[in-house]
Amino acid sequence: MNKLEKLRNDLDLCDEILIDTLRMRSQIIQELIVTKQELGIAAVQPEEESRKKKKFNQKLNDYKYKDSIMGVYDSILYHSKRIQSAELFGFNIFLIGFMGVGKSTISKTLKQTFAMDVIEMDQIIAERNGMSISEIFDLRGEEYFRNEETELLKECSKAKDQIISCGGGVAMRQVNVDEMKKSGKIVLLTASPSTILKRVEDSHDRPLLENNKTVEHITSMMEAREPAYQGAADIVINTDGKDAREICEEIIARVKDLKEEEKENAAAL
Ligand code: S3P
Repeated sequence: MNKLEKLRNDLDLCDEILIDTLRMRSQIIQELIVTKQELGIAAVQPEEESRKKKKFNQKLNDYKYKDSIMGVYDSILYHSKRIQSAELFGFNIFLIGFMGVGKSTISKTLKQTFAMDVIEMDQIIAERNGMSISEIFDLRGEEYFRNEETELLKECSKAKDQIISCGGGVAMRQVNVDEMKKSGKIVLLTASPSTILKRVEDSHDRPLLENNKTVEHITSMMEAREPAYQGAADIVINTDGKDAREICEEIIARVKDLKEEEKENAAAL
C-alpha cells in the first residue's frame, strides 16, 4: 500500500468512528430528554452547554486546529438541540395572545434552547413590505395587513418544529385558526392588563394601542378578543410573575400532557 492509500484508509476509519459515535450521541440525547421528562427535571438548562464548551476549550488548549474543531462541536450541539425539540414537540408551536404577553421573548428562549426555527410574523411582514407595521396600517390599511398574516400562516404550515410568534390579532380570523391547527398546537399566553401596559409602554409599533395606552383601553380590547383567543387555544398559560424559563418549562410540560391525552383518546377509539 502506498502512502496515499494508507492515509485514505486511515481517514475512512476515522469517519466510521465519527459516524458511529455521532449515532450513539444522538441516541443518548434522545434518551436524555425523555428521561428528564420522566423525572420532571427542567429541559431548559443553558448552563450545561457552557460547561461542556468550556471543558473542550480547555482540552484543546493551544491545538492548532482548535477553532475548526470547536466549530464542528457547535454544529453537533445545534443538531442535538433540534433532536430534542423534535422529540418534545414534533409539530409547530403557534404562540398567540394579546400584544405584550411575551410571545417574542418566549420564542427567543425556545430558539436558544432547542435551536428551533422562529417565525416572527410581524417582523417578516414588515420586511416583505419594506415598512414598519404602523406604516402598513397607515398606507395599506388593516385589512391588507390581516391578509398578509393569513398568507404567511399558510406558508408556515408547510414545515414543522417551528415556533411561530403570531401577531396579537391572528386568532381573530377562524381561517387562521384552522390553518394553525393543520400543522401544530396553539399556545395562548395571557397577562393582566397592567402587566401588558408595562411591557408595551415604550414601544411605538403597535398602531392599535398608539395614543391609547391605558389599562382601560387594553382591558376592553382584551375582553372583546377573549372568546376568540380561548376558542383557538390548545393550551393556555398565564405569564404574570413568571420568567421566560418557567414559561417555557410550562409549555413543554403541557405539550407532553396534551400528547399523552391524544394518545389515550386514539387508543380508546
Ligand atoms: C396586533 C398585534 C401586533 C401587530 C399589529 C396588530 C393586534 O403584534 O401584529 O400591531 O391586532 O393585536 P404583537 O402582538 O406581536 O404586538
